[in-house]
Amino acid sequence: MSDLDQLRTKYLSGVADAADEAALEELRLAGLGKKGEISLMMRELGKMSPEEKQTFGKALNELKTEIDTALREKKQALADAALEARLQDEWLDVTLPGRPRRQGTIHPVSQVMDEVTAIFADMGFSVAEGPQVEDDWHNFDALNIAPEHPARQEHDTFFMHRAEGDDRPPHVLRTHTSPVQIRAMQEQGAPIRVIAPGRVYRMDMDQTHAPMFHQIEGLAIGKDISMANLKWVLEEFCKAFFEVDNVELRFRASHFPFTEPSAEVDIRCSWEGKQLKIGEGNSWMEILGSGMVHPKVLEAAGVDSTQYQGFAFGIGIDRLAMLKYGIPDLRAFFDSDLRWLKHYGFAPQDVPTVLGGLSR
Ligand code: PHE
Repeated sequence: MSDLDQLRTKYLSGVADAADEAALEELRLAGLGKKGEISLMMRELGKMSPEEKQTFGKALNELKTEIDTALREKKQALADAALEARLQDEWLDVTLPGRPRRQGTIHPVSQVMDEVTAIFADMGFSVAEGPQVEDDWHNFDALNIAPEHPARQEHDTFFMHRAEGDDRPPHVLRTHTSPVQIRAMQEQGAPIRVIAPGRVYRMDMDQTHAPMFHQIEGLAIGKDISMANLKWVLEEFCKAFFEVDNVELRFRASHFPFTEPSAEVDIRCSWEGKQLKIGEGNSWMEILGSGMVHPKVLEAAGVDSTQYQGFAFGIGIDRLAMLKYGIPDLRAFFDSDLRWLKHYGFAPQDVPTVLGGLSR
């Protein structure tokens, strides 16, 4: 084999075996670079006779071109392969269905709390808060609930455990939002206009009672606030909340230790099939307890009962939510299966509720 044939074999097989551009460049320099094997041979041509020059020179030039072409082709082939690999790798199926995001819904109770809060805010009520673990005094004594009152019995109230020998007065899971009346008056004095939405606890469990439920307390104290103001405020509230103009309320004489006089309030409604209509029909639905705040309660909270008077009310929020959205069983509120929420038309929302941080 001539020298040139050996060179040809060496370079062409080198090119064929080259795995990447760097290997190709190495070959190119070794053969065709300034000091490459073939370039050096080109320089030797000058020393040859014209005949030698002609035959050898031509063959050498052809070899140079051949190697150069092989190098370029291989370079292109490597680039094509790299692109192909990348296309395979980064392949994206734009027809695939999207990954669904988990959707939450606002709980009806939270939604109703927000609605109620907004309605009372329009009437000048601000939001007050109190602890869910409440002391005996705020939950009972300050509200004129006597020590022997049945609500204080073990079977109605959740009492917090006290260690042996700890004789501080007991704490309870608050049985209503009324203790927030006391706290708000202690903090802000009179006149005052507040509502207090929150959780309350009693030992109860059936279709319309749960051991934890929600109330909104209302309190308005001033120099001349009367039962008539209570009636107007509650009517305005019901019109706005149930979105009807012809609301009819019935004030039924009742008894609460912390109000005098006291009234339970019913709303006129009808049941057509399972559909509840507010403001018409021959049924009455109890929605809240209310009354004029007892002077003893004002005094306990540090408000002068010879100067000030006013009303208070307590609305069951869970009950309101059931009425407005036609939910038949209170226990559904605490079901972990949220499909029923969609059933009652609660659409997914990503807006946090105003009162989302209420729980303590
Ligand atoms: N606290 C009472 C209850 O839980 C409701 C109420 C509040 C009644 C304020 C009168 C005034 O049943």
